[in-house]
Amino acid sequence: MANIIKKYTPGFNIHDIQKKYNLKKVIKLASNENPFISKNVLSFINNSKHNLNLYPDSNPHNLHSEIAKSIGYRMTDKNIILGNGSNEILELIVRSNIDNKSEVIIPKHSFLVYEIISKLQNAKIIISKPENDKNNKNYLGVNLTAIYEKISKNTKLIFIANPANPTGTYISIKHIDDFLKSIPKKILVIIDEAYFEYLDSNIDKSAISLIKKYKNIYVTRSFSKIYGLASLRVGYGVSNPENINKLKLYKQPFSTNYFAQKAASIALKDSSFIKESKKNNHDALQQFKKIFDELKITYLGTYCNFITFRVGNNSSSLFNYLLTKGVIVRPLTNYKLPEYLRVSLGSPSDNKLFIKHLKGFYSENTK
Ligand SMILES: Cc1ncc(COP(=O)(O)O)c(C=O)c1O
Repeated sequence: MANIIKKYTPGFNIHDIQKKYNLKKVIKLASNENPFISKNVLSFINNSKHNLNLYPDSNPHNLHSEIAKSIGYRMTDKNIILGNGSNEILELIVRSNIDNKSEVIIPKHSFLVYEIISKLQNAKIIISKPENDKNNKNYLGVNLTAIYEKISKNTKLIFIANPANPTGTYISIKHIDDFLKSIPKKILVIIDEAYFEYLDSNIDKSAISLIKKYKNIYVTRSFSKIYGLASLRVGYGVSNPENINKLKLYKQPFSTNYFAQKAASIALKDSSFIKESKKNNHDALQQFKKIFDELKITYLGTYCNFITFRVGNNSSSLFNYLLTKGVIVRPLTNYKLPEYLRVSLGSPSDNKLFIKHLKGFYSENTK
């Protein structure tokens, strides 16, 4: 069968929607960005006298060391590779390990990039079924048993997002450890932790804690989410030094620019910004859940900075209605969740606008 590759569809862009609907104000709650920017980062960007004619540092050791220090688990700069978003790291892992004889296991409803980059290597894509909780029908978790059952002699790579987008679920490190123990060690496993910083660091552990134990794992992290740097494109991968050195062979030397590197270093140290971002996220989540409950809309639980809610047959009419009001959310048909929409947890004013128009839609449609 032909390996048809679908293009990744990003969230709609604010300017296009302003023009299309002739709107002054449009807000975007479609791509899980932090609604805020660290003041320290902003002040650096606004006051920087950097010479744009110079190439950036191709191997920023200091930033690698700062990242290693911030994540702990006895990681050093040798365990880190910086990328143009964590997307670049995902792509490097796939490009350097996967070919047309490989099978790649991807849990159903996963981040679409996994499938796109694997298909570009002509790999065979194997989709594993989600975990259904009998007691909670609004749960679509990553099902490690279902992944295990899909393993064959050709399996080369497994993707696990933890927490997962767009389903919002998290699996404990104990489960991941047991899973890694049970599979053949020639299979590579990517644990994508783009949303990790939204978890409770006192309770939830990172898969980075397993890197010294398993040579076949890579963990990816992003500066696009809680660190608020989506536009600058910066993320990183963590693995044992051998794996990292292999990825570096495939990487373009200047894929992260000077501002991305400096801003990442500043954001990493701005602990009060991270704390405020987490608090805003927590408050927004409580507010959204309350409104969804009031409107009798069901939703998937979330450990992230978005919430996926079920609209049923109304999902495209609600999506289009919100667009005409200047609110961009994310349809999930591409994720095989056509009855759902995903909304990012935004700033208090953006959330207010979303809630106003969500209520407007339901009052107009239940008259
Ligand atoms: C699960 C997941 N992984 C990775 C990414 C990519 O993030 P980055 O901006 O670091 O490339 C995203 C972005 O939305 C995501 O949802």
